[in-house]
Amino acid sequence: MRLHVKRFYEGREELRTYEVEGGGTLLEMLERIKTKEDATLSFAHECRSGVCGSCAVRVGGVEVLACAYSPKEDDLIEPLRFMPIMRDLIVDRSAVLTCNAGAQAAMEAGEFVKVSAEAAKFNALQSDCILCGSCYSACPVLAVKPEFLGPFALTRVWRYVSDVRENDVAGKIAAVQQAGIWDCTLCNACVPVCPQNIAPKQDIVMLRNKSGVMGYMDPNMFSGGGFGFGGMPEF
Ligand code: SF4
Ligand code: SF4
Ligand code: FES
Repeated sequence: MRLHVKRFYEGREELRTYEVEGGGTLLEMLERIKTKEDATLSFAHECRSGVCGSCAVRVGGVEVLACAYSPKEDDLIEPLRFMPIMRDLIVDRSAVLTCNAGAQAAMEAGEFVKVSAEAAKFNALQSDCILCGSCYSACPVLAVKPEFLGPFALTRVWRYVSDVRENDVAGKIAAVQQAGIWDCTLCNACVPVCPQNIAPKQDIVMLRNKSGVMGYMDPNMFSGGGFGFGGMPEF
């Protein structure tokens, strides 16, 4: 099978084509290239089983986990977008920490609260996020606003503000008002690429609803910039 890999190394960008024998996942094919043909090809992986999120790349412009994707003839493999490229398909994932910290996407637990099985189910899906960064790479807002908190951090915020144990819902809602929920265009690009079937867009809508109930409104509405990046057209 013929695969094309966009490589970035020693300050150069280069499109390399490899002929790979045998089948398997994209990760297995990249490993075959590295062991048999080109030892300089660099890519990231850890668990090999869709759990760690470290192998996410773009194939034909769509984010996938290399350990879960079966390549097709002439696929183009690229690194994730909006994260600095360290080498070839390896990106600097510090955006994961930066976005989560900026969005305050961690629980502030208060006193002991018993959680019913039903309440635990409510945000069980969001808890499955493996921080692969696929949704972040797919989000068009990051192309024009690098400080946007992005889909995975906002999904996490919803996961915590909808948890009965969270002790600082007001603080978390306040933290996502700037460069956060109102800058999402609700385009849905983050949803189909999530390997865990999480829907960040829906969680952002939930955060907007909760923000509205708490007295917040879209700060772009009266700023002359329309409704966020694409919520409503300007008249
Ligand atoms: S729905 Fe919002 S967060 Fe998701 S990709 Fe579109 S703009 Fe980004
Ligand atoms: S929400 Fe989905 S796509 Fe985004 S980082 Fe988490 S697992 Fe990956
Ligand atoms: S190597 Fe861990 S998700 Fe692919």
